[in-house]
Amino acid sequence: MRAFYPGDTHRNKQKIGRMIPVHRGNPAQREHIRTCQAGTRRYGNGMTRPPKRTSDSVVIAGATSTHGWALFRTVHRLPRIPACNIHARGEFCRTWQRTDAEDTEGWLRWIDREQPTGLIYCAGVCDVEQCEAHPAWARRINVDAVIELVRRLPTTVHLVYVSSDHVFAGRDRPYLETDQPDPISHYGRLRVEVEQRILDRRPDALIVRPGLCVGPSPSGRKGHWDSLAYRLRRRRPVTIIAGEYRSAVWADDAAQRILDWTDARRSGIRHLTAERPTARPELADAICRARGLPSDYVVRDRATLNRPHLGKVELASVHDEPPLQALPDRLAGRRTAEEEKKKGQGNSGSG
Ligand SMILES: NC(=O)c1ccc[n+]([C@@H]2O[C@H](COP(=O)([O-])OP(=O)(O)OC[C@H]3O[C@@H](n4cnc5c(N)ncnc54)[C@H](OP(=O)(O)O)[C@@H]3O)[C@@H](O)[C@H]2O)c1
Repeated sequence: MRAFYPGDTHRNKQKIGRMIPVHRGNPAQREHIRTCQAGTRRYGNGMTRPPKRTSDSVVIAGATSTHGWALFRTVHRLPRIPACNIHARGEFCRTWQRTDAEDTEGWLRWIDREQPTGLIYCAGVCDVEQCEAHPAWARRINVDAVIELVRRLPTTVHLVYVSSDHVFAGRDRPYLETDQPDPISHYGRLRVEVEQRILDRRPDALIVRPGLCVGPSPSGRKGHWDSLAYRLRRRRPVTIIAGEYRSAVWADDAAQRILDWTDARRSGIRHLTAERPTARPELADAICRARGLPSDYVVRDRATLNRPHLGKVELASVHDEPPLQALPDRLAGRRTAEEEKKKGQGNSGSG
């Protein structure tokens, strides 16, 4: 075994490259040893590249959504591969896979290349009003595209489908996974249909039903946490619905639970439960307090609005798992990332 000599031809070097993994005296090659030890592969031309993710990697479809972004960012054992809509913009998603929900071929090609062991699906049209206004389009994205992908998804890929508490209407008692869905909106009815069809085809799949999920968005404008602050800061009108109660949780807590279930290859339907249900104005107040904003919004009763709004949908579970902390309690007395940042700036300014 020897290192390269000045007279070696390119072909010769390739052969030697295969025979001799490294020349230990060269700093660049010492670095190469470290990368090899960290799991990268060496090729004949001396180049390295990351190994194919063959074990335990999970694709997050809809990684720009509230759940998707938390699932991608949360610290967890499972490596995650983010995927977003073809229109997504921003530096954060420059290297992400972009696939339209309806491009099943594109999804399958990519899945074949990445060989993930799991797929957490949070993509779709999640705006209740949009679904009412464009029912056929919503059906194509939220049902047809998902079922086509599920139909052709390799059985080696564990599917986790993030559904919604919109499969229920609202009542005085909590809802268990075993309760019959009773949706009041087109969005809710599509969720019920897709859940059923997924489980018919893939009984090993996991259907997660979250209540309200609150957390940062990559754009800083979407979701309850960011859109409320975005609008209040620009003095835009904000309407909060009275009469709607949900199992509201912090997105990172929800993500941790979903990733644990994914890791354990859970199947069937599971509710993301909270310690107590939260009314929308209480939730808005908690967000405003945490972000240092005035609770400057208008309250309207859900009965006075045209589009369907849930009543009291409290999620409970037949599974023996501790509920997640209710969002207002989770935020109370805690300093948010923004406050931490401000404090850091203040310190550096005074110091
Ligand atoms: N947020 C909540 O409180 C809540 C409550 C219950 C359940 N969920 C569940 O959480 C998931 C995300 O919901 P969300 O409320 O965070 O909604 P969202 O922000 O509207 O997220 C929808 C996601 O789907 C992507 N998407 C939409 N159309 C697509 C298409 N044609 N092709 C590819 N990607 C597409 C969006 O990407 P772009 O934004 O780039 O278009 C976005 O990442 C859903 O599964 C929903 O059922 C959320």
